Amino acid sequence: MTQTQGLTETTRDELREIAARYPQARSGLLPMLHLVQSTEGRITPEGIEACAEILDISAAEVSGVATFYTMYKRKPVGDYHVGVCTNTLCAVMGGDVIFERLKEHLDVGNDETTDRRPEDKASITLEHIECNAACDYAPVLMVNWEFMDDMTPQSATQLVDDLREGKEVRSTRGPKICTWREAERVLAGFNDGLADEGPSAGPASLVGLEIARERGWTAPESSDRHAELAAAATPEAAAEEADTSRAETETKVDESSADTLHEDNPAKGDEAK
Ligand code: FES
Repeated sequence: MTQTQGLTETTRDELREIAARYPQARSGLLPMLHLVQSTEGRITPEGIEACAEILDISAAEVSGVATFYTMYKRKPVGDYHVGVCTNTLCAVMGGDVIFERLKEHLDVGNDETTDRRPEDKASITLEHIECNAACDYAPVLMVNWEFMDDMTPQSATQLVDDLREGKEVRSTRGPKICTWREAERVLAGFNDGLADEGPSAGPASLVGLEIARERGWTAPESSDRHAELAAAATPEAAAEEADTSRAETETKVDESSADTLHEDNPAKGDEAK
């Protein structure tokens, strides 16, 4: 595992670059924290201070965000983060067994990182994670947030062995697994050019779509109002259109509620008049 080097000027420049992407600079805090993790291997006090200074907010506010979301780590993460889904469906399909097997095999507990043995080329942080919306492929593992579908205790142990040995590992959906720090840089918004590697959805996730095609089901047409919103020249214009649309809808709902009320109870209608 590469140790923390301290934030370089290049990283600080990139943090400013992220903040400058947003109309409200503080909206950039989440990707900024991912960038800190990509260089430091975790959220460091120095990283928190740097984000606070650039965004002109307090270190406590940055810290509050960094400790709220589980993707931000206060302890150093290994070269590969292996997340085992132990949410309900994955758990009953074998996720609990896989997690127990990996803890034993790697000799670590939840949210702990393997010691690097002389023969190892990489370290692994093991964590049990919540549902990753891939239940149709349960039990699921994530390696640096890439899917490993339909896993078994055997395939999971083989996976971590391959990662530790430095072998090339691919997601069951295609993409080559990069290191955790490289993945964090992508989450910070820096393109690695690999976004289109592998399919975006597997066959099990597309079954509903296939059934809809067979039966000739189609999605409702977009309303004219949605087309107007899409055609709005600026985000401000779109927001204004949306506000007007919402106000008109609310007025119609109010009128229709009043009509219903009057039909149900004409006396109330008279009172209203
Ligand atoms: S329960 Fe594991 S991906 Fe949904």
